[in-house]
Amino acid sequence: MSGDRKKHPGEAYRFPKRDVRLKTLPPPHLRSLSSNDYLGLSRHPQVIEASIRAIRESGTGATGSRYLSGNHVLNGALEESTARFKTSGAGKAILFSSGYHANLAVMSFVGEPSGMIFSDEDNHASLIDGMRLTKATRIVYPHNDWDFVRDFLKKHPARAPIIVTESVFSMKGDRAPLRELYEIVAMTGGLLVIDDAHATGTMGKSGRGGLEQQDLPFDPDHMIVTGTFSKALGSLGGFAVLSERAEKLLASVARTLIYTTALPPGVLAASLEALSLIEHSPKRVESLQESSRYWQCRLTGRESDSPIIALTGDPAHLSELSNKMALRGFHLPLLTYPTVSQGEETLRLSVNTSWDETVLSAIEDILTPKEKKGS
Ligand SMILES: Cc1ncc(COP(=O)(O)O)c(C=O)c1O
Repeated sequence: MSGDRKKHPGEAYRFPKRDVRLKTLPPPHLRSLSSNDYLGLSRHPQVIEASIRAIRESGTGATGSRYLSGNHVLNGALEESTARFKTSGAGKAILFSSGYHANLAVMSFVGEPSGMIFSDEDNHASLIDGMRLTKATRIVYPHNDWDFVRDFLKKHPARAPIIVTESVFSMKGDRAPLRELYEIVAMTGGLLVIDDAHATGTMGKSGRGGLEQQDLPFDPDHMIVTGTFSKALGSLGGFAVLSERAEKLLASVARTLIYTTALPPGVLAASLEALSLIEHSPKRVESLQESSRYWQCRLTGRESDSPIIALTGDPAHLSELSNKMALRGFHLPLLTYPTVSQGEETLRLSVNTSWDETVLSAIEDILTPKEKKGS
């Protein structure tokens, strides 16, 4: 008798209408077409071998925070490799348990003294949550509208303003105007925080990320770059790269570093091996960019080498395409609110270098717009 049921305290919250509980995704017989393992490195034999070796040598868990028992030697090795890969030695790296933790740490760290943060309206939840931890004034600017930020600062000058953006946006797959945003912070003595989660391993001629793609050097005085090993590197864990001074400060205050268990050795070893594979054979990245350019053009008409292809339009039609893909054995779910804004339902296809003929023909048959077929 539902009328007699006592209300659970959690029911006071307003839940989205969609059922967002965790599901087993994808069912074992479906292959995912929206995975972030762009280069297929999560199944690379050398990555698997390195991980198994580290587990055999050091066990499965880190057994504590890095400040207590968990500072395995692989942490330092991965920090060094990450700093070299992302900044050519101009900055230092700190590892976190995930990209989410890295963004929480960085945003709460930079927001406090600055007082003013400009945040792209499409920024990832982890950046938003990090900003919520500070008392800084947050100004959400229209997507990629650097003119808005520049004009705002002309009218309301601020000391050391912070601009935060993703380099490649996780849902739309488009990229941020990093050069223009950087010019604003360089001129105003501010800081540009770049979330390179989806660009690391996918963008720039050797996969170094958004800065390499836009031909900008890492500037430790005006930039912090964050990212994750959980996407193109096929592993787990986050990082921030920053100046030596900022690294020392952040490492001494970051709650998501100090008060949590460190990454386990098997995960660190996998990330290290994946990074080395990308550094030593940029052909992988080249081939991803070539396929991305081809499929972006074929499916959306866009000229882009972003591996994230966002198909939008009538949700009923998108849902039908998703079902057709499932019948062919592929999992390509329709993204709905709150993952994307209401009215922006999306099929998010992630290009992957390990796609074989069966995947390619399903995409060709089902997703390629009719009028484009044979063109
Ligand atoms: C843009 C962006 N930033 C940060 C993250 C968080 O990374 P992680 O999965 O390592 O926590 C994600 C992943 O969803 C992301 O898409």
